Amino acid sequence: MHIPHVKNQKVSVLFVCLGNICRSPAAEGIMKKLVTDNHLEESVFVDSAGTSGWHEGELPDNRMRMHGQRRGYDFCSLSRKFRYDDFELFDYIIVMDDDNYWNVKKLAKTEGDVAKIYRMTDFSDKFSHHQVPDPYYGGASGFELVMDLLEDACGNLLNKIKSNFE
Ligand code: 4NP
Repeated sequence: MHIPHVKNQKVSVLFVCLGNICRSPAAEGIMKKLVTDNHLEESVFVDSAGTSGWHEGELPDNRMRMHGQRRGYDFCSLSRKFRYDDFELFDYIIVMDDDNYWNVKKLAKTEGDVAKIYRMTDFSDKFSHHQVPDPYYGGASGFELVMDLLEDACGNLLNKIKSNFE
């Protein structure tokens, strides 16, 4: 997979799902903790957004927050909708599933925009999943699977970003 080469420069990462209340805010919270633990706050900027505006301004879903808290995370971002400007602001736009991929790609204007779109599962090596499944209409095991996939993928993503700093 092509990862842009960055030296002495701030890297920005945007996670995207449908509602921006379950998967992408969890990815944001997990990634932010990794960035802090690695003292990279000055080098890596992390945010999240949803392709729908259905939950704009809301905190993450209580179930997602609870599953995060159990692993030591505080998911507290407010939902916002993905917008075209995000292609200009972010280096990595990382989507959770195929629907997110196509909805983000529809807004791309240039090949450079499209090249910034990645799938979260591209960074996972412990799982063979092609998507991070939407947990919204399911039970606790769906939220745990989201946490497992995101922890694996975010760890690998940060390692890739760090290797580009070296
Ligand atoms: P997310 O999950 O895309 O991971 O935030 C969902 C949140 C809300 C809805 C669907 C999925 N919804 O239908 O409102």
